[in-house]
Amino acid sequence: METIRITGGRPLRGTLAVQGSKNAVLPILAATAAIPGRFLLRNCPAIRDVTVTLALLAGLGLRTTMEHGLVTVDSRGPLGSASDPALAGKLRSSVLLLGALLARLGEAEIPLPGGCVLGKRPLDLHLRGLETLGVRVCPENGRLLCRGRPEGGTVILPYPSVGATENLMLAALGATGPVCLIGAAQEPEIRDLAAFLTDCGADITGAGTPCIRIRPAPLHGAVHRILPDRMEAATWLCAAAATGGDLTLTNLLPDQLRPVIDVLRRAGCEITESQTSLSLRAGSLQAPGAVVTGPYPAFPTDAQATVMAALLRASGVTLFQETVFSNRFRHIPALRAMGARIETTGDLARVRGVSALHGAVVTATDLRGGAAMVIAALAAQGESQIHDAWHLDRGYGDFILRLRALGAEAHST
Ligand code: UD1
Repeated sequence: METIRITGGRPLRGTLAVQGSKNAVLPILAATAAIPGRFLLRNCPAIRDVTVTLALLAGLGLRTTMEHGLVTVDSRGPLGSASDPALAGKLRSSVLLLGALLARLGEAEIPLPGGCVLGKRPLDLHLRGLETLGVRVCPENGRLLCRGRPEGGTVILPYPSVGATENLMLAALGATGPVCLIGAAQEPEIRDLAAFLTDCGADITGAGTPCIRIRPAPLHGAVHRILPDRMEAATWLCAAAATGGDLTLTNLLPDQLRPVIDVLRRAGCEITESQTSLSLRAGSLQAPGAVVTGPYPAFPTDAQATVMAALLRASGVTLFQETVFSNRFRHIPALRAMGARIETTGDLARVRGVSALHGAVVTATDLRGGAAMVIAALAAQGESQIHDAWHLDRGYGDFILRLRALGAEAHST
């Protein structure tokens, strides 16, 4: 999508099945390069980051197909160790091929990865962790060259980086001895990666806690169903809350979305849940108090922009503190252009509710920031245009179709 046009003011109503998780499927796809075998992955989202990852895998020599949420990968043939720079530059998670290729081949060559520009995104935790496992790391002309089969050992992560935890889990699959990760990330997507690897024969304990242990084990192909996408779910809930809507989501695990549900409840939304579904009825919104992002199980940084957009008309003042990324307020100028009152200082944003928003022409800055602009446009009076809407293709499948199915007046070019 280049541009999304939205005429706002219509409440979103209806039922939607949440797609499979972007942040779970990407490390799992990287893992298929680490293990020779055949893989069948169900509930895969039809998003650009998956298409790009499949192309990256094909470039390494894996055979892949994707149809109706079903991905197959055959990684039994010979593999190259260098990934395509143009493709790898398009997404941050391409860095996970480092761990996967080191596990399988004992060498890997990766261009410095891309992804959303959310501030400084160094790879020091990934690389120091790999060095602790005996891998030699040489950055060279915008590429990372890594050599050496990982050894067993203990890696202490000073910050629970999601990507570094995943990369080290993948490298550990090929290690000559047991690997212990201390200070690991605890996100549900880490648990899903561990569940997939366990299906492949890996011996992993502790995923979902700060201490993960991986012991050497024979590995093989597997069938796995990808976790539902808690960030896509948060986006739809925020869109319903912002527009005074009434929405039921199926195929999600509400427990993994607890901090977002709590904020929306405190803001006045009526939310009922079962184990795998959730219904939201929006009332008149009030400021729910402070929203502070942090590593799981704290409030997720990926829902900061969308929840902010949902609360632009909530009465009172909502304070947002972004503690995970140094530059994740890039959506705010666009929200201001639609009439929002937001002041920022450092990692704080203070949102004072306004009685109405109006349409505007804005430009998406990143995936979730773009989704926040869409939510504000849905709640605004009049027409909005969101340019550079390709950012949304990275993480939302059939986005316009799904918006329209819920009653939105939305078009894309
Ligand atoms: C993943 C998610 C992203 C989410 C983020 C935090 C995927 C594909 N992306 O990104 O959607 O917003 O987790 O939940 O799963 N850091 C370092 N050094 C490192 C690695 C990270 O300083 O080596 C810092 C980052 O700059 C950032 C913080 O740690 O400030 C969190 O990053 P990390 O948890 O690694 O996020 P990603 O894995 O990039």
